[in-house]
Amino acid sequence: MADNPTLGEWLARRGVSRRTVLAYAAHVGALMALPPAARSALAQGLASTRRQSVIWLSFQECTGCTESLTRSFSPTLENLIFDFISLDYHETLQAASGEAAEDARRAAMAADKGKYVVVVDGSVSTKDGGVYSTIAGVANVDMLRDAAKDALAVVAVGTCAAFGGLPAAKPNPTGAVAVCELVVDKPVVAIPGCPPIAEAVAGTLAYLVAFGALPELDSLRRPKAFFGETIHDRCYRRPFYERGLYAEGFDDEGARRGYCLYKVGCKGPVTYNSCATLKWNGGVSFPIQSGHGCLGCSEPDFWDQGGFYRPLSTSLPGLGPTLAGAAVAGAALGGAAAWLSRRHLKSFQAGAEKPEGDAS
Ligand code: SF4
Ligand code: SF4
Ligand code: F3S
Repeated sequence: MADNPTLGEWLARRGVSRRTVLAYAAHVGALMALPPAARSALAQGLASTRRQSVIWLSFQECTGCTESLTRSFSPTLENLIFDFISLDYHETLQAASGEAAEDARRAAMAADKGKYVVVVDGSVSTKDGGVYSTIAGVANVDMLRDAAKDALAVVAVGTCAAFGGLPAAKPNPTGAVAVCELVVDKPVVAIPGCPPIAEAVAGTLAYLVAFGALPELDSLRRPKAFFGETIHDRCYRRPFYERGLYAEGFDDEGARRGYCLYKVGCKGPVTYNSCATLKWNGGVSFPIQSGHGCLGCSEPDFWDQGGFYRPLSTSLPGLGPTLAGAAVAGAALGGAAAWLSRRHLKSFQAGAEKPEGDAS
C-alpha cells in the first residue's frame, strides 16, 4: 500500500469498510441535497483523494468555533475525515508551539503550494496595520494575505470570519473585517454561525476535498445546502406561528405549551441556517427547542442589530406576526444586500463548478 494512502486506503487500515464510506457519502450527499449520481461521485472522490493539507488560522476569535468542531459527538466519520485531513497548523490543537509551529506552517505552504486549504476562524484586525492582533509578531492581516496567496481555497468558519462578527460590532475598535473583504482573488466560502454547525463545516470540507470545487453558494458565499432555508422555514413550532399562538414571555402558559417564540424576539424568519434540521450535539436540540428564540447568529451584523428579545416587527418595521413568507425572504435578502453595500462588496454570484451528475 502506498506511503501516502488515499482516504479509502487509510480508512480500510482503520477497519472502516467501503460500505461505511458509501454510507457517509450518502449522508453528506443527502444533507447537501445532491442528486444520486453526485453522491456516488462524492464517495469516489473521497475514497480516491489524498491527504488534504489544511492550514487553520485563528484570528480575533473566542475559540468557540474550534470548540464546536471538536465537541461534535464522536466517534463519527466526520472525525475520521478530519483525521484524514492533514491539519498542518492549528494553534489550539497542534502540539508544536513557538518557532516550531510557524516553521510547520511555512513548510506545509511550501510543500503544497497551490493545493492547501486555508481555514480561518475569527475576524481580521486592519486598524493601525493590524497591530491589535498578531501571531508570532505577524499581524493577522499579513498572515492571512501570505497564507491565502498560494491556497486552493479559503474557508471562513464562524460569523467572525464570515462577516466580522462580535469583534466588528460597534465601535469596532480594532478595525475588524471579514475574510472575504481581504481575500479577493481566491475562492472563499463562508460557514457562519456563532459558532457554526460542525456538520456544515465537515460537509463543506468533504465536498471541497472530493471535488476540488466549492459547492453552490448564496450571495453571501454560504453553501446553499446548509444555508438555503431559514430557521423559520423548517421550525417545528411553525404550526403555532401559523395559528397565531405565541409565547408572550419565557414563563407564561404559551411558553409552557411550546408556542411560537416570535413575540419574545425569535429571528428565525430572517436567519438562514440548518439548526432546525441538523440541530446540535448530534441532532439532540437547537436554541428554539430549548425554549429560546433564534438570535440570528449566522447573519451579518447580528450583534449590532441586537434586540434579541424584541419581536422582529419592532426591529424590522412592517414585519408583523402575520408576515407573508415572501416579505420575510425579502427582509433577509435586504439585510444581506445592506451588509454587502456597507462593506463595499458585490453580491457573490455562485460560479462553482458542479460535480458530474449534479444537475441542481
Ligand atoms: Fe467565537 Fe462566535 Fe466568533 Fe466563533 S463566530 S469565534 S464562536 S464569537
Ligand atoms: Fe419557529 Fe421562531 Fe418561526 Fe416561531 S418565529 S416558527 S419559533 S422560527
Ligand atoms: Fe444561531 Fe439561530 Fe441557530 S441563534 S445557533 S442560527 S437557531
